[in-house]
Amino acid sequence: MGRRNSLSHFLFIIYLQFSLIPVAELSLEEVSSTDFSAPPGHLEPLGSRNVQHSLEVINDYLTPMEFFKNYVSPIKPVLIRGGAKISPALTKWTDEYFLSLPESNDFNVTAEQRKKEIRTFPAYDVSFKEFVSTYRKEDIYMVNGVPPFLQKDVILPPPLLCNDIVKDKLIDTVMWFSSGGTKSVLHNDDVDNINCLFSGTKELLFIDYKKYKKQVPIDFPSGGYSGVDVDRVDFVKYPSLKDVEYFNVTMEPGDCLFIPYKWYHQVRSYDRNIAVNVWWKHIPDFVPQDCDMEPNQTLDNFKFSSLEQEASNTQEQEGFMKYMSELIANGQVGFREFEDKLKTESAIVGVEPFEWNDKLSAVARKIFQLLDKDKDGLFSKHDFKLLEEDTSVESVVENELARIEDIIEDQVESNYSPQDEIKDEL
Ligand SMILES: *[C@@H]1O[C@H](CO)[C@@H](O)[C@H](O)[C@H]1NC(C)=O
Ligand SMILES: *[C@@H]1O[C@H](CO)[C@@H](O)[C@H](O)[C@H]1NC(C)=O
Ligand SMILES: *[C@@H]1O[C@H](CO)[C@@H](O)[C@H](O)[C@H]1NC(C)=O
Repeated sequence: MGRRNSLSHFLFIIYLQFSLIPVAELSLEEVSSTDFSAPPGHLEPLGSRNVQHSLEVINDYLTPMEFFKNYVSPIKPVLIRGGAKISPALTKWTDEYFLSLPESNDFNVTAEQRKKEIRTFPAYDVSFKEFVSTYRKEDIYMVNGVPPFLQKDVILPPPLLCNDIVKDKLIDTVMWFSSGGTKSVLHNDDVDNINCLFSGTKELLFIDYKKYKKQVPIDFPSGGYSGVDVDRVDFVKYPSLKDVEYFNVTMEPGDCLFIPYKWYHQVRSYDRNIAVNVWWKHIPDFVPQDCDMEPNQTLDNFKFSSLEQEASNTQEQEGFMKYMSELIANGQVGFREFEDKLKTESAIVGVEPFEWNDKLSAVARKIFQLLDKDKDGLFSKHDFKLLEEDTSVESVVENELARIEDIIEDQVESNYSPQDEIKDEL
C-alpha cells in the first residue's frame, strides 16, 4: 500500500537484519562500489539494462466479469488507455479549483517530506489548502485518502461496479499529488488496485511476482519493500536482481492502470502529478456476478473499509514491542550498551560508512531517556511493562530514529566527492 511510516518498520527491520544477515555478507556491501567485476547495469537505475517488455493495453473498460477473468484472476497488469476520462477530475482538478473550495482550509492531509521515498522518514499533517499553496516549491508530496469534498469528482472504475464488490471488498482510496519528480521504492501490495492519472506522466516498472518472487529482495518485509536504491542498483549487494525482467509502462493523463496484487512495482512521476487509486481485497479466482448497477457512480457513494491498514498497524505495534523485548532479552541495558547497539544497527541500515558524532549521540540519549520510563538509568523489563501501557512513546521514538537517519544521510551526502562518482562509473 502507500508507505507505512513507522518506527517498528525501522526497528523490526534492523532487528531482522541484525539477527539474520551473516557478517560475511555485510563486508561485501562495503566493497560493492569498488568491485570492478560487477555485472552490467551495476549502480545504474533500476531497469536500465534488463530486457524490457511492454504491457498489455486496452482502450476501453471491459465488463467486470471479463476484467476479473482476464486480468485479476490470472494476476496480470493492464493499462486502460483513457480509462480516467469518465471522471470530472481530469478537467476540474486545477490548483485554482482546489484553493477555491472552502473545505480545503479545514481538511488536513498527510504530506511526505522527500520525493525520493524513504519510508522511515516522518510524514506530517498540513491543511489541503496549505499543501496546494506550497507543493510546487517544496520537496513534498501528498499521500492521503481522497478528501471527502473531492470524492464526487472521481468515478469508481467501472469493473468494480458490482454489488458483491462494493458491499465489502473496497479497502481504500489514495490521492497522490506532487509537482513531479517523485520516486517510490520497489515494493508490492497485498491488495489489488486501479490507479488513474489525472495530471502529469507516470512511469512504472513492473516485475512479475510469480516468476521472480525468489529474486526480488524484499529486505524490509514488514513494509513489503526492497531497500535497493532505485537510482543505483547494487548488483553486488542484490545479485539475484540482475536477471530479473521488467515491464515498462508510461501513463498519460486520463489513463488507468490495473496494478495486481503482489506484483512488484516502482513508480516515477513527472510534471504536476495527480493520481487516485482504489484498492480492493484480493480474493483468488473471484469473479463478480452481481453487477447490475447504475453506471458512472462517484467515490462518495461507497464505503471503504481500510481493514488492511488496521491490520498492519497492529502488526507494527507488535514489531516494536518484539524488538524492545529482544533488546533486553539478556537483562537490562545501560545507555552505553544501547548506543553501541544503535550505532551497529545504523551502520547496517546505511550503505555508506559514516561517523557516529556528538549530534547522533545526543539523539541516542534522547531515545534512551524516552525508553527509560522509570528514570533509573537502565532500560529494563520494568520499563518494557510501562511502555506496553503507554503506546504514545512509539511515534516519538520513531521521529527521533528518523532524525538519526537524516543526520547520517546528510553526512554521507557531504562526504560524497566527485572522485567517488568516477570510481563508480568505471
Ligand atoms: C520506460 O519508457 C519510457 C518511455 O518510453 C522511457 O522514457 C524510459 O526511459 C523507460 N524506462 C526504462 C527503465 O527503460
Ligand atoms: C457514463 O459516462 C460516460 C462517459 O462520460 C458516458 O459516455 C455515458 O453515457 C455515461 N452513462 C450514463 C448512463 O450516464
Ligand atoms: C491540522 O494540522 C495542524 C498541524 O499541522 C493542527 O494544528 C490542526 O489542529 C489540524 N487540524 C485538524 C482539523 O485536524
